[in-house]
Amino acid sequence: MQSTSAQLDRDILEAVLAWQAVMGVDLAIGDMPIDRFAQSITPPQQEMTQEATPELQRQPRPGKAASASIAPPAQVEAQPEPARQRLEEAQTLAQLQALLEQFDECALKSTAARLVFSDGNPAARVMLVGDAPGADDEREGRPFSGRVGALLDKMLAAIGLDRTQVYLANMVPWRPPGNRAPNPREIAQLRPFILRQIELAQPEFLIPLGTIAMQSLLQTDAPPMRLRGQALEFVAGAQKIRAFPMLHPIYLLRQPSHKRHAWQDLQALQRALAPAPPKP
Ligand code: URA
Repeated sequence: MQSTSAQLDRDILEAVLAWQAVMGVDLAIGDMPIDRFAQSITPPQQEMTQEATPELQRQPRPGKAASASIAPPAQVEAQPEPARQRLEEAQTLAQLQALLEQFDECALKSTAARLVFSDGNPAARVMLVGDAPGADDEREGRPFSGRVGALLDKMLAAIGLDRTQVYLANMVPWRPPGNRAPNPREIAQLRPFILRQIELAQPEFLIPLGTIAMQSLLQTDAPPMRLRGQALEFVAGAQKIRAFPMLHPIYLLRQPSHKRHAWQDLQALQRALAPAPPKP
């Protein structure tokens, strides 16, 4: 039997639909496609700016890591957003969460089912920051649920920590559609919020987990394998925080042979957390 042109169109449309499902498209949010990738690589002039000089010789600015051994920051960085001033007005984590609930400028909010702000103990000495919530996290309403969270819990348990002793958040608090990685524009839009969250939580130790959190928080292009294992200084407002970048549990699920690096880094954190022995 010969295919009619209508049948051919239908076959093609079904194939395109199947391909989109495989690529993780799980929601239609408009009639016309929007090329977010193109938007992210050609951001509007007023929102993104070139870094004039490398950071290494300069005093760290809020949310910058001070280190002589990490690479200069990425070429684009968000200029202070108008929202930034309003963020200063948030004096508590609850107020910051309320500001996020009202923030409509990030497209991720319109596709996500809910805000996933934090988990664990906001008064903890250790704060871990991942990249974005996944489907499990969105369902549960807390970061690092599901399989990834279970591995993170095991990693923490290996050095005697549980969720009552750490505070958890993400670079972006809304799940990107299809569990894709957040793009540079979304990260730049939401970076001021996570910086304020760190400032308000005042942890002693900050653990950026994985490439996105490492590079965005520490403002560097250095690869994660070079950043992990370093003890850096992170400036959050008036506070200096010790930063221990670590490999992301998702990466460790895919590359179990790298768990030994994670173990070394966890042990370094454990040593740093231990009270100094009494002087003889
Ligand atoms: N879940 C989170 O909450 N954050 C991640 O980075 C990954 C999974």
